[in-house]
Amino acid sequence: MPIDVTAVLDQLVADATAAAPTSIGYPGAVDLDHSAVMTRLGARLWNNIGDPADTGGTAHTRILERAVVDWIADLVAMPADDRWGYVTTGGTEGNLSALHAAYRCWPTARIYHSTAAHYSIPKIVDMLGARAVTVQAGPDGEMAYDDLAAQLRRRRRWPAIVVATAGTTMTEAVDDTTRIHAILTEYGIPGHTHVDAALSGIPLALDGALRLDDSSGIGSITISGHKFLGIPTPCGVVLIRDHLRRPHLRHVSYTAAADTTITGSRCGLAAALLWHAIATHGREGHRWRTAEARRLAAHAVDQIRATGWTAWRHPHAFTVVLPTPPPAVRAKWLLASDGPVSHLICMPGISEGQVRAFAADLATAVSTPALSLPRPRTPTPSGGATP
Ligand SMILES: Cc1ncc(COP(=O)(O)O)c(C=O)c1O
Repeated sequence: MPIDVTAVLDQLVADATAAAPTSIGYPGAVDLDHSAVMTRLGARLWNNIGDPADTGGTAHTRILERAVVDWIADLVAMPADDRWGYVTTGGTEGNLSALHAAYRCWPTARIYHSTAAHYSIPKIVDMLGARAVTVQAGPDGEMAYDDLAAQLRRRRRWPAIVVATAGTTMTEAVDDTTRIHAILTEYGIPGHTHVDAALSGIPLALDGALRLDDSSGIGSITISGHKFLGIPTPCGVVLIRDHLRRPHLRHVSYTAAADTTITGSRCGLAAALLWHAIATHGREGHRWRTAEARRLAAHAVDQIRATGWTAWRHPHAFTVVLPTPPPAVRAKWLLASDGPVSHLICMPGISEGQVRAFAADLATAVSTPALSLPRPRTPTPSGGATP
């Protein structure tokens, strides 16, 4: 039987299109139109192999990649003479690149991360052959700084690489790098602070709340491309203070260049898509998108509470946290669930109508006698549990 290739592809598109209206649990923005890039560049290979500063090869988009890196580095106030970065395959590769660079600087360091850090972090610590120290996170997902201080105090003879998260996966909590920096300074522990800002990096930087200037104590940052910017292929950007990685570069004779990136061949299409999303909206456009998404998230909290269920969010967050809804709701709506706690994320492009429909289904489930008691309990930011 010959394969009906068109039917196979059409089915994939139909399935994804049918699932989209009830997919509100994962953080991919769906409001931006990337077709100008896909139409012009989508049908050929764009390979940004090597460093973004390299000039070799014919079909590459490194000029756009450099523009993307500069736009984000400017946004986070990274010094112009001490910055480097590239377009990665996503948040995980960005974390790997940054922690690899940090660990080369500090090969005896312990790597500290909270229990709310993304699962890529302990995996990367393992890959590097380093020692991890797990720090408690509070019920709202933010690192417990007293526990960080206690863990650091116990290990003050070794340098520290601290991974802070700006937008934890479940609650979008933001670790306070000023407090982390103050603790490291108080104990006189040298090392590196990396910020995994895969989810919230751009929105927080647009607020002026995430800066990599000299006083920040932050050495590197990871940002995802397919989350807030909704790039239709997994990608991200890693930024590292240049002086941290430059002494450890390896030269490759085959490419006649320094080997600076985790993968060799790299997706030039992703860099072009990122550049397009930035160039067509600019800071003001992305600020507007951020404000609209936060407004909808606040509205979602109200709508959910009006059903008698509970919900909360951090003030800056797109993420709405709620006790895991009854099975009837979960069967229809794709939420992210971690046992008793679930979330939905009002990324740009999620509509008020979707939030209303979700709340209506939740109200129906809540008022169904068999399901109405007992309610699951979920931690609140204040540390207590609410029904
Ligand atoms: C905080 C955080 N870091 C890293 C990642 C990993 O990103 P990726 O899936 O692009 O590798 C995620 C993904 O959800 C995340 O939420």
